[in-house]
Amino acid sequence: MVAAWRDQLDREEKKLVLTNGCFDLLHVGHVRYLREARALGDALVVALNGDASVRELKGEGRPMNTAEDRAEILCALECVDRVVVFDEKRATRVIDTIRPHLYAKGGDYTPESLNPEERAALDRANTEIRILSLVPGKSTSATLKRMQDDSGGGSKNKGPRLAVLGSGRGSNFEAIADAIDAGTLEAEIALVISDVAHSRILALAQERGIPAIHIEPGSEKGGRLSDAALKEIVDRLEAASVDLIALAGFMRIVRAPLLTAFPGRILNIHPSLLPKYPGLGAWRQALESGDTETGCTVHLVDAGVDTGKTLAQAKVPILPGDTAETLHARIQEQEHRLYPQVIAETWRAGLGQ
Ligand code: GAR
Repeated sequence: MVAAWRDQLDREEKKLVLTNGCFDLLHVGHVRYLREARALGDALVVALNGDASVRELKGEGRPMNTAEDRAEILCALECVDRVVVFDEKRATRVIDTIRPHLYAKGGDYTPESLNPEERAALDRANTEIRILSLVPGKSTSATLKRMQDDSGGGSKNKGPRLAVLGSGRGSNFEAIADAIDAGTLEAEIALVISDVAHSRILALAQERGIPAIHIEPGSEKGGRLSDAALKEIVDRLEAASVDLIALAGFMRIVRAPLLTAFPGRILNIHPSLLPKYPGLGAWRQALESGDTETGCTVHLVDAGVDTGKTLAQAKVPILPGDTAETLHARIQEQEHRLYPQVIAETWRAGLGQ
């Protein structure tokens, strides 16, 4: 039937374009590709791999959708004129039958690297071959991976890939790592970064086999990181496919491009009930002010110093006889309980949006 239609188009001096594929989970990359293929001629036929051949090409568990469903979706597209389903792995027989004027193929192929059988069939039919570039980042495999990551299916962890940034003792890092080990926080620490070369946080991460790196902060004043340091941090975080960043005693001011690369995805823990006592030595400030209560805050990081949206707080009484050390130790007990809990909740709730 399609062959007769091809002959009719031929008489009308019109061009029939053929392409083939699995089109399992239709995405925008497919749609753009099919539109482009259609624009090369006057009619577009999609030769759709049947279910057995998709399984053979893509592996067990595929296709996600039956050939009937996939064909119905493709037929609903304005740029698709006909769909034919074929059961072999290769489209050779379809090409031989339809003898298209033009054959469009997507991806990394060149006319030379096409399957030899298909290439021979195209040559027999005197078909022009056009390779169309794929839309970067848009593919069924990438979509499936995102879906699996979101649901936890097939991946080791259901939670986020975390980076922990710290300058010092790393007790909050330990609390997060312990919560992951205990199964109370579903996450994976993908990377630990410190601006201090011999900090305990880096040693602790290395002991646990977690990638840990020192980044030279530069010589800017007032806790600012140099542009080079910020760029290196962003590059490392992106290379580690980090979802969420936890600042844990990171004594540096965070700004663009780090803030812009991870909008709403950077958390900090601070040892006071913000907005009281931002900045350094917050527990000491609380003690000296004569307050009877202080605590800790987990907040989203913005360009200010400890000014971002508060996500959760825990209160700690200031007891008679408290020193800066005893008070900070009691605040830290609460920090270690609160931080992993807020990371889990924030992730579940969609990153503080
Ligand atoms: C924590 O008490 C944290 O709240 C504080 O530094 C300590 C780091 O301890 N952060 C700030 O003061 C940020 N302004 P740790 O290295 O043992 O986790």
